[in-house]
Amino acid sequence: MNPKLQTVLLAGTLVFATAASAVTIEIQSDQPGAKINPAMWGIFFEDINFGADGGLYAELVKNRGFEFPDPLMGWTKISPSLAKGDLSVRDDAPFNAANPHYLRLQSEGTAPFGVSNEGFRGLGLRQGEAYDFSAQVRGVVGSPALSLQLYGADGTLLDAVQLKGFSSGWKKVTATLHPKDTDANARLCVLVDGKGAVDIDMVSLFPQHTWKNRPGGLRADMVQMLADMKPGFLRFPGGCIVEGSVLERRYQWKNTIGPVEERKLLINRWNYEFLHRPTPDYFQSFGLGFFEYFQLCEDIGAQPLPILNCGMACQFNSGELCPLDQLGPYIQDALDLIEFANGPTNSTWGAKRAALGHPGPFNLKMLGVGNEQWGQPYIDRYARFATVLKEKHPEIQLVSAAGPSPDDERFKFAWPKLRELNADIVDEHCYAKPDWFLANTHRYDHYDRNGPKVFMGEYAAQSVAIVSTKNKNNLDCALAEAAYMTGLERNADVVCLASYAPLFSNAEAWQWTPDLIWVDSLHVYGTPNYYVQQLFARNRGDVVLPVTLSGIETSTAGVQNLYASATRDDQAGEIILKVVNPGAAAIETQINLEGIADIEPKVKATVLTSAGLNEGNSFHAPRNVAPVETDLNVDGPHLTHTFTQHSFTVLRIKTR
Ligand code: AHR
Repeated sequence: MNPKLQTVLLAGTLVFATAASAVTIEIQSDQPGAKINPAMWGIFFEDINFGADGGLYAELVKNRGFEFPDPLMGWTKISPSLAKGDLSVRDDAPFNAANPHYLRLQSEGTAPFGVSNEGFRGLGLRQGEAYDFSAQVRGVVGSPALSLQLYGADGTLLDAVQLKGFSSGWKKVTATLHPKDTDANARLCVLVDGKGAVDIDMVSLFPQHTWKNRPGGLRADMVQMLADMKPGFLRFPGGCIVEGSVLERRYQWKNTIGPVEERKLLINRWNYEFLHRPTPDYFQSFGLGFFEYFQLCEDIGAQPLPILNCGMACQFNSGELCPLDQLGPYIQDALDLIEFANGPTNSTWGAKRAALGHPGPFNLKMLGVGNEQWGQPYIDRYARFATVLKEKHPEIQLVSAAGPSPDDERFKFAWPKLRELNADIVDEHCYAKPDWFLANTHRYDHYDRNGPKVFMGEYAAQSVAIVSTKNKNNLDCALAEAAYMTGLERNADVVCLASYAPLFSNAEAWQWTPDLIWVDSLHVYGTPNYYVQQLFARNRGDVVLPVTLSGIETSTAGVQNLYASATRDDQAGEIILKVVNPGAAAIETQINLEGIADIEPKVKATVLTSAGLNEGNSFHAPRNVAPVETDLNVDGPHLTHTFTQHSFTVLRIKTR
């Protein structure tokens, strides 16, 4: 059929192509190129912006163990006018030596007396849901009761329950509460009712409805957002959190498994990192620890990609180094982690995994050595890790670091050294203005095909500037990232993994913006950037198909008016064409599928666009910028299509 005479149904409107289109997109459908790593599009998780405590980890009580340096942070003394009593934080004969502090509540018995907890910048409760309270309690004097009360932000009592009969030794007590209203800023009160004293520790309130309804588990709505992305991998636990500002505060995975009370609290480096966004109540309880990360990966079908400290503290902070001849314990941590993930149940660490309820392996295939490190000290440390790990575990692909920038001196220093060391995968990071992403879609076209592969491990377009608090998750940035991702996809023989960063942000407690997913104590929404990631991951394809664009415009800065990449989904028998039109004018195109005899007459089009580049999503309008699916009627493998202004489109074309 003459392509000039075809008609295409675009979002319910007939578009007539009566003249040759100015832009042609030619897809060599019969010349498949590189295989695409099934894990290509993944997730970067870091406990930043209250991503774990106050985020994914569904615990509602902040400072449940009274271990913050200000042990009553998050807690308020509740002392009605008639009440007389005393609070004291103690550490003699503690419940657990790893987290030794606890609270003694002593009451004269004139009226209930105690404390209330504010939650993580809002304690979110939902009407109709059940909440499990638990605490370690020890009776000290008399036999008072403990009164548990949930209050809404306006002082309404939402539910209450009394517990009695405490022994003189520590004992876990439990109760279930059912709030009669939904409240995003509720409070949990724990009051001594009657004359006497009790000790309390590990005071916890969890929704029963968690992800997979696991007690003490993860927030179901947040995990659902991750599952909906269909991610290929999950990188954890960061980010700079891996490094710590000093080595003593580095992330140590062995401290994050087993009973939660034994997971020693650690200050979060984002607590004090940004003077302009101080977060004094930010600590790591490690309730979300390495076992839970592996389990999460399994749940959402993502390959685990743990990143371990390589003997270097954050180079933006102290840059403290573990001397090379003392790296042994760090390397041993890596070996033990591999055994924890994959080892048989009769191995030391495999047995620990089994004891935690997972006898089968977690199928770890990749491991990161250091986060965002740079310079010779990193190369020296990576080399030592690699020598041991490659000898003992050649099956594990190692991820190495190229520093914080995609093109500075640190980056240029790292690459040749890592190439010399036969590194498997190099982790590149880039936070830059949208134009950088638009101008760098050809970045990987000329990379060495025989060297290490690339993990675009952290990237996000910054609408204003890196670490500016004014950065927005808007369509402008999302389209720039989508355009850049077409370049990653076209170069899937070099780029094997990619993830946007950071992932989560608690709107009441963030340090860094932009972020992929925003949450508060009850709600969650995906940004336009989230939908870009989701569209790429859900429309990955198995092999790259060569695409030639002709008739497009390119500015002197290298910004194109149209970007495209194509892949083929072998099982579905579909060609997947991704096209980004970042500009203000719709672009009519002629799409030629070369080497294809015929296609099905219906093409599924998914379009992400909005009224303008500054548009984004919010708690009130969570899908203001979200993908919309339509069916296009087409007639043969030569078709015209108009790509609307400011849009990212995925076309799934079924071949016959
Ligand atoms: O994603 C936020 C931070 O940016 C990460 O912790 C770090 O790796 C990078 O500098």
